[in-house]
Amino acid sequence: MKPCVHIYLCFAVYFDLVFSKDAPALGSENSPRLLIPGIISDQYKYEVNQTHTVFSYREEEQELFVGGTDFVIKLNANNYSVIEKFPIRTTEHHKCSDRPCKNVITVIEKFQDGMFVCGTNGHKPKCWKLVHSVKNQTYKIEESYEGAGISPLVYTHNCLSLTVDGDLYAAAPLDIEGNSLQFRRKAGKRTNVWMYDRWLSEPTFISASWVKRSEDPDNEKIYIFFREKNSDHSPDADPWISRVARVCKTDEGGSKRFFQNMWTTFLKARLVCGFPDESLFFNRLQDIYVVHADDWHQTRVYALFTSSWNSTAVCIYSIEMIDKIFENSAFKGYANEIPTPRPGTCVPNSKSLPRATVNVVKDHPEMVDWVHSLHSKAPFYVSNYNYTKIVVDRVQGADQQVYNVLLLATDTGKIHKVLEAGSEPFIILETQISKISSIQAMTLDSQKKKLVVGFSDKISTVDLQKCKVYNASCADCVLARDPYCAWTTSGCTPSNLGGIQNIKDGHKSVCSQNKVANGKL
Ligand SMILES: *[C@@H]1O[C@H](CO)[C@@H](O)[C@H](O)[C@H]1NC(C)=O
Ligand SMILES: *[C@@H]1O[C@H](CO)[C@@H](O)[C@H](O)[C@H]1NC(C)=O
Ligand SMILES: *[C@@H]1O[C@H](CO)[C@@H](O)[C@H](O)[C@H]1NC(C)=O
Ligand SMILES: *[C@@H]1O[C@H](CO)[C@@H](O)[C@H](O)[C@H]1NC(C)=O
Ligand SMILES: *[C@@H]1O[C@H](CO)[C@@H](O)[C@H](O)[C@H]1NC(C)=O
Ligand SMILES: *[C@@H]1O[C@H](CO)[C@@H](O)[C@H](O)[C@H]1NC(C)=O
Repeated sequence: MKPCVHIYLCFAVYFDLVFSKDAPALGSENSPRLLIPGIISDQYKYEVNQTHTVFSYREEEQELFVGGTDFVIKLNANNYSVIEKFPIRTTEHHKCSDRPCKNVITVIEKFQDGMFVCGTNGHKPKCWKLVHSVKNQTYKIEESYEGAGISPLVYTHNCLSLTVDGDLYAAAPLDIEGNSLQFRRKAGKRTNVWMYDRWLSEPTFISASWVKRSEDPDNEKIYIFFREKNSDHSPDADPWISRVARVCKTDEGGSKRFFQNMWTTFLKARLVCGFPDESLFFNRLQDIYVVHADDWHQTRVYALFTSSWNSTAVCIYSIEMIDKIFENSAFKGYANEIPTPRPGTCVPNSKSLPRATVNVVKDHPEMVDWVHSLHSKAPFYVSNYNYTKIVVDRVQGADQQVYNVLLLATDTGKIHKVLEAGSEPFIILETQISKISSIQAMTLDSQKKKLVVGFSDKISTVDLQKCKVYNASCADCVLARDPYCAWTTSGCTPSNLGGIQNIKDGHKSVCSQNKVANGKL
């Protein structure tokens, strides 16, 4: 233990010396530090505090499905009125450590023509299908399914789910100890497919994402982001390592004779975030947000990491760069000639893949090369705040340019709005939305420009274009460098209406220039 502690302390000191001065403060030298009170427009309060909540947000319908303990509710996302309430209690009536068993809902996914809901069900995971009736616009519980491998037995255990074209992909352990945690295709029309036991070591799955390719659907992949035990056990190595893996959407597993029902296209690579020149890395992936683009090459992955010295970082990756590694790197521990097709290539029928190709996937799925971030010499953003969640919005400024804004949640109920200003972060503002509880769930409505945040006692909406906080003057509005807001004759208003703004530099001189130009301002 001792050497580890020593090294972490060194990192901590090193970190303070080298990076604290570069870590951005709230606002820059010439703009105000903004610590504004919660900009909350609406709230929903639970009758009973929740230990765990999951959201499924239907942006078009403006409906928010919320799963808690023993219930699912459907809320109107505009005013938080309850549209429907579904009690979903456990069907297991034994005792769970002296108390009646609870059904903590852990999964809510849009699935086929309804919603797929799974819960711990008193340590016997189960799923239910809520079917939508077109006639009277209500849902009803229609069927129940075995939930092993989709929901964990205990809500604190890791779990992940994703629906792709009517198929459900999920990761959850199969027993109460948390064993056999892996990523599988579990429900839907297609074959169930799972992982080979030796591919991962004590993983924690963070996110899975389907990256569509409209012009090349047979090549579509599902990317899986996770952290796992580091196989390097040397004393100065972090015990954890972060990863990106991928499987082909077309993967049906191997033939009857070899690797049946196992992913035949699984590959994994190290996801690097840190200062490679100093061998200083943030190794513990915490959260992921994928910003999809029409052209998949432009799709970007925002990853939030923590470190052994309790500092956090955001690194940004592109799917194109990730794919380049999977398509060009050597395979770790494999020195022979690479078979054809190259392991990991998507083919129409995975059951007919040559055994040589599948063997490399089976025994050597790890890439030698690492996936570096866009700003490869350093993370995009380093902070001493304990961030737990990230979402990223694309905001059209008054100049019609699109800016990326990161919304980061801390472990103390705060949200930071951070501008991606080229390769530099700029913290626009901090807002405290809850004094007492940490954030359990968070989802973005990019159309309505609001953030829906779930706490143990309530759900709150943060209005992202609440521009009146900068309404004192044109300078105030411009210095904020908030792409959601611009100065007009009505004061600081949402920037989709046009107006004066200078996101790139925050130069307030644009105010006087425009005053000359149109007299009114
Ligand atoms: C909430 O809004 C919907 C329309 O979006 C309306 O029908 C409903 O009455 C509202 N409920 C409350 C409690 O205001
Ligand atoms: C909606 O329709 C279903 C049958 O399709 C029915 O069982 C249910 O009671 C109806 N709900 C309401 C609120 O009318
Ligand atoms: C990091 O935080 C954990 C608790 O969250 C604590 O046990 C550990 O000592 C901290 N490490 C450092 C280097 O501050
Ligand atoms: C982050 O968490 C660590 C360990 O729990 C704590 O020591 C530190 O003060 C926290 N930092 C902030 C900015 O809240
Ligand atoms: C529910 O949570 C809130 C905020 O954490 C707390 O103030 C309140 O006392 C809790 N209520 C109960 C019944 O535990
Ligand atoms: C913002 O300031 C303008 C004047 O500069 C005023 O007309 C407007 O009402 C203010 N808006 C808000 C929301 O306070």
